Amino acid sequence: MKKEINKIVMAYSGGLDTSVAIKWLQDKYGVEVVTYSADVGQNEPLAPVKEKALETGAVAAYVDDLKEEFLTDYAFKGLKAGAIYEDKYPLTTAYSRPLIAKKMIEVAKKEGADAVAHGCTGKGNDQVRFDVSFQALAPGIEIVAPLRKWEFNSRPEQIEYAEKKGIPVGATKESPYSIDRNMLGVSIECGILEDPAQEPPEDVYQITTAPEDAPDKPEYVELEFKNGEPVALNGEEMDPVSLVFALNEIATKHGVGRIDMVENRLVGIKSREIYEVPAYTVLQEAHSQLEDLVLDRETAHYKQAVADKYSELVYYGQWFSPLREALDAFVDYTQQYVNGTIKVKLYKGSCTVVGRESNNSLYQENLATYDKSDTFNHESAIGFIELFGLPLKVHGKIHNE
Ligand code: ARG
Repeated sequence: MKKEINKIVMAYSGGLDTSVAIKWLQDKYGVEVVTYSADVGQNEPLAPVKEKALETGAVAAYVDDLKEEFLTDYAFKGLKAGAIYEDKYPLTTAYSRPLIAKKMIEVAKKEGADAVAHGCTGKGNDQVRFDVSFQALAPGIEIVAPLRKWEFNSRPEQIEYAEKKGIPVGATKESPYSIDRNMLGVSIECGILEDPAQEPPEDVYQITTAPEDAPDKPEYVELEFKNGEPVALNGEEMDPVSLVFALNEIATKHGVGRIDMVENRLVGIKSREIYEVPAYTVLQEAHSQLEDLVLDRETAHYKQAVADKYSELVYYGQWFSPLREALDAFVDYTQQYVNGTIKVKLYKGSCTVVGRESNNSLYQENLATYDKSDTFNHESAIGFIELFGLPLKVHGKIHNE
């Protein structure tokens, strides 16, 4: 550590790593530890987590409900941008880290703390997302990541330390996987998944029904969007949190949103990851097809490039960057047209858009139709194609004749 620190705010999950970290930080640096725990819809009561933090020796333990902010200020921005990392991963874990970092900096200011800490390892993306967010929001604040520097090499060593220090270890069975969960879904790594040749065993999946066990009858859902954000499910207006929970319930039942991929981590390694992203998969598919209906071709094509850049920024932990803000300004301008209703069919793991409606629809039946109500001027195609093809005609004359 570069300078003397007195008080540290640490992201706390209540698990073994971060519990051991409370005592380790106190032992190593003689600091006071304040813990910060966020409810991002991981479906785990946080009152016991707070209690455990205090029991383990934290001088204060903060617990915040961030569910709505998580959706409206982070995940829905990505939804509107169409951000999907490497065409597969909807970035569900990645949205939570900048939000938690921001709240931790607020607590650090309030508590007069001079450092922040998290329980990420030195191999993952989450450490980058935390550290870069801390640096952007509080340049100069000291950052400590106990897992990057401590002496423990295995879980039994941590348990031995915990027992020696009187840290409540708890009777929870150790999962063979590393799991991160929030209301948008679950990220799963480690164990047998480290062999990309192996099909994931069914016990990997935490929330979704196996597609082969899903109902034999398809289910339809109708989603209404306003300015690119979902506002109603099956005709019923809902706040974002209720809507996502309700849609999750339907989509998990039909086994929708399972992803199995090998991805490129920022730190340079490839890793095999499993994701379960039920509601967000449906939202993303519906949103994207509504855009197909209402955005003009050039804006739609340009927006795809923006989506790719946006997904990289989110994945790389660059949330608090001027470029992300600038891209949001572009995206928000396009979303004024993204109003309408999309009908989606869910069936044994698949999620298919089967109907779209919007007052802003640019689809003109009289232009598209092949029957006699057609108003498209077929003859004008001749002149158009002549000029459109002119450069290639000239090229062909010079080189192919
Ligand atoms: N690979 C995903 C990402 O980079 C998931 C990370 C999961 N994090 C975790 N602490 N298990 O966003």
